Amino acid sequence: MKVPFVDLVAWAKPSREEYLAAFAQVIDTGSYVGGPQVGSFEAAFAKYCGSDHAAAVKTGTDALLLALRALGVGQGHEVITAANSFFATGEAIALAGATPVFADVDEATLLIDVDDAARRVTPKTKCIIPVHLFGQLADMDRVHQLARSHGMRVLEDSAQAHGATRGNWRAGSSADAAAFSFYPTKNLGALGEGGAITSKDASVIDHVKRLRDHGQAGRHDHVEVAYNARLDSVQCACLEISLRRLDGANASRRELAAQYRSRLAGKAGVRLVDEAPGSAPVYHLMIVRVDAAKRDAIRNAMGEQGVATAIHYPTPMNLQKAFAHLGQGAGSCPVAERSVREMISLPMFPDMTDAQVDRVCDVLLATVGA
Ligand SMILES: Cc1ncc(COP(=O)(O)O)c(C=O)c1O
Repeated sequence: MKVPFVDLVAWAKPSREEYLAAFAQVIDTGSYVGGPQVGSFEAAFAKYCGSDHAAAVKTGTDALLLALRALGVGQGHEVITAANSFFATGEAIALAGATPVFADVDEATLLIDVDDAARRVTPKTKCIIPVHLFGQLADMDRVHQLARSHGMRVLEDSAQAHGATRGNWRAGSSADAAAFSFYPTKNLGALGEGGAITSKDASVIDHVKRLRDHGQAGRHDHVEVAYNARLDSVQCACLEISLRRLDGANASRRELAAQYRSRLAGKAGVRLVDEAPGSAPVYHLMIVRVDAAKRDAIRNAMGEQGVATAIHYPTPMNLQKAFAHLGQGAGSCPVAERSVREMISLPMFPDMTDAQVDRVCDVLLATVGA
């Protein structure tokens, strides 16, 4: 039995006719950009996140960048984020003109280590970006506490966590702003690229809407140099259709994760990522950790038996060449640097079957023990 890493064809199938009807509606009205579908999706998505306002943009990277600018982050500022994230998190900080500062991650959850982040605060620190990696919320109680005590802004990188909760927090509801990606493989994926910012502060969202539209305060009235980062009507229409299925898809991911966890917990040579107390992750990714010396051989052997795997992410941001000038070299984030060599991302998608999970576990356990 072959097991793919994700199956986007299966995910789209039940909505196919609705997507086509949405396309037809946009074609028949000619409102390709800025149609009513945009505001309608933004309202639905803000509500879903328990926030008050949302702005749709072209990508998750744009969401991070525009949110940082709208929060007043720029030249001369430092922004702390977790070393283990997709490169876009650090990239957006640099694109905003600020300096990324990478904090280590917690050994058990692989999410930002707030104590380590606290040690990296300087008078220049303007903002902290907790990354809700793999679909689990960072420790937002402690992130907010730290931010409050130093007058920092909080921007959640929620690209992998649509619908996730932890304690009283829900992804996208808690902070000054949150950035989401709708890249097709995400828990909520567009039929192409997409992203959004949520905020309880209307002025942040107004600013983001200006930034996504060439800095226009009114037609042909450009008050700052910005971007063309608008998300088009068709993507918004299709996202609103998919949003109605998101809770069901997340529930399915959680059930699959529970099955994975019960098969793999306590098995020699395999370590799971902890679910923090009170956390309800949405399992964008299903991560296991194995002996770093065997990791690549295990992946190769699994691949030969038809089980697709991946690594998220092989290099922590502090060790990326593009950030070498920051001087956060090897040893500055030891947990992140070690754990990325141990991690394997297993297949995880809402339409995955119990039999497929069993097959992945059988192959993994046989390979780890070999
Ligand atoms: C944690 C994280 N942040 C930011 C991004 C950037 O999103 P996008 O690919 O939509 O630009 C991604 C998506 O890959 C991500 O996983």
